[in-house]
Amino acid sequence: MCGIVAYIGPREAYPVILKGLKRLEYRGYDSSGVALLNGDLNVYKKKGKVAELEEMLVGKDVHSHIGIGHTRWATHGEPNDRNAHPHISGSGKLAMIHNGIIENYAQLKQDLLRKGYTFKSDTDTEVLLNFIEDIKENNNCPLEEAVRIALKRIVGAYVIVLIDQEHPDTLITARKGSPLVIGIGKNEHFLASDASPIIEYTKEVVYVNDYELAIIKADELILKNLGNERQTPFITKLDMELAAIEKGGYEHFMLKEIFEQPQTIQDCLRGRLDANGGTITMSGVSKYAEQIMNANRIVMVACGTSWHAGLVAEYIFEELCRINVEVEYASEFRYRNPVINQGDVIIAISQSGETADTLVAIENAKSKGAIIMGVVNVVGSSIARISDTGAYTHAGPEIGVASTKAFTAQLAVLTMIALKIGYEKGTISHDRYLQLVRELDAIPEKVATVLLQADNIRKLAEKYKDATNCLYLGRGYNFPVALEGALKLKEISYIHAEGYPAAEMKHGPIALVDENLPVVFIATKDAYHEKVVSNMQEIKARKGQVIAIINEGDEFTPTLADDVIVVPEADEIVAPMLNCIPLQLLAYYIGVAKNFDVDKPRNLAKSVTVE
Ligand code: F6R
Repeated sequence: MCGIVAYIGPREAYPVILKGLKRLEYRGYDSSGVALLNGDLNVYKKKGKVAELEEMLVGKDVHSHIGIGHTRWATHGEPNDRNAHPHISGSGKLAMIHNGIIENYAQLKQDLLRKGYTFKSDTDTEVLLNFIEDIKENNNCPLEEAVRIALKRIVGAYVIVLIDQEHPDTLITARKGSPLVIGIGKNEHFLASDASPIIEYTKEVVYVNDYELAIIKADELILKNLGNERQTPFITKLDMELAAIEKGGYEHFMLKEIFEQPQTIQDCLRGRLDANGGTITMSGVSKYAEQIMNANRIVMVACGTSWHAGLVAEYIFEELCRINVEVEYASEFRYRNPVINQGDVIIAISQSGETADTLVAIENAKSKGAIIMGVVNVVGSSIARISDTGAYTHAGPEIGVASTKAFTAQLAVLTMIALKIGYEKGTISHDRYLQLVRELDAIPEKVATVLLQADNIRKLAEKYKDATNCLYLGRGYNFPVALEGALKLKEISYIHAEGYPAAEMKHGPIALVDENLPVVFIATKDAYHEKVVSNMQEIKARKGQVIAIINEGDEFTPTLADDVIVVPEADEIVAPMLNCIPLQLLAYYIGVAKNFDVDKPRNLAKSVTVE
């Protein structure tokens, strides 16, 4: 979704902003632009990639020590030059960038049209900007005050950053619901949607809270709430290295992130899981262990891939903890009127920690007395901060739009939580607990073994790349893995794919099966193995092409399959962390074979900060 970058200080603003916009490209966007103040207010914007904006600006006057930049993911108005940000106010003196949605923009626009304002774009952003300017002029007040007044009348989510030709030494920014990080340098400040454009310059950052407004000069940061009271900026140290957001020799971030998984799962287990001592240490879980053990139910709330992690966790928690678990799409949960009882535990799962639907869903649940536990990757993100407790997944920055390493880290964290709670509650035996601790500990090495299959999977990708539809089937713990495999294929290769519980196939999807339909079976050894193999026979009988994910030593299943991918054997509870890897690689290599931009698939955004 939209990315914002801004700079004020002694450096040339344009190169800092341009590099920052490139770092934010992974979020997904369709146009970009910059506004630079140097006596004149110069605004340049263009549909397409940041590189096209850069090309357009060759030879232009970009000298400035204050500027704002934006990558836009269209919401109001199609992606074109006109609708790209920054927008300029009616007087031509203010420029603004915005991430979020102003829900009451239509009414505000009507009011402004009646007052004689005209609009150059179709965006809600231009409406908000002129609304601010109108307040400033009518009240003859400073911009800061006009912003404050305007924001009190806004419904929706926003991060806005403004520059004012009359005050070239000040940036004004405010946030509600969308992410904003301020980097503090030596007599300079950097603003961005996440830390990736900032990390190269400073590790000291302030995460701006909802309903806060900042007045920023090169050497001063004043933080206020919308009631105009000064707030003390809370400075956090970034725990991230520049290398983590670069490709490190891989062709794509997605491939790098798939290959990082032995390490990221290890990072996630480190300091928590002690296989020798048989202990799991998770302070965020211990703090609320009683409440979780005694909860009548746990509700997993998430979107997309994180929702799939929630589904796997449902099976695991019910098995190990004997607690009723529901898994909810955040976008549905937030708008229903769900029954939430005091003491219900909500586990919010999110890579970015900024997904708008998940964020609002847990805000609502919290206000009704639920305990919120965040399983989040991005440290300091909104979901992490609003949660009562939680556990970070420690997968490091995930830049590829399709989630890969964050998913396996989510599974690792959720499995540890379930094991810890199940053991303390007494719903699993000591032996089973120790066995699963050891199984979990062995996962990073087994993932490394699966990755050795990459070349084989690349060849399969060549064979199946021209398919137009694909089915993914699995049962039990592997049903959500089938859903995740299908989602990866859709996102990266634009091939229509569906995941189903293998048995459910007979209730409809089997009608699709013919000799042109590839069907991916997750057929590793677990309690359902024989039943899955029977389902495979049903597909073969109808001439479907079967690709089977199987375990080492399975000699029978390959006789039914057209192609097999072999993964090491593991307990069914931890197996999804292995079984999803070939599916990630298959989607990746098909996307590459079809020449698609696998790191930035069309229409997708990494961090979905609008509902
Ligand atoms: C799929 C994908 C999305 C996200 C979803 C939730 O590859 O990346 O489906 O999983 O948008 O995002 P987070 O986890 O950031 O809340």
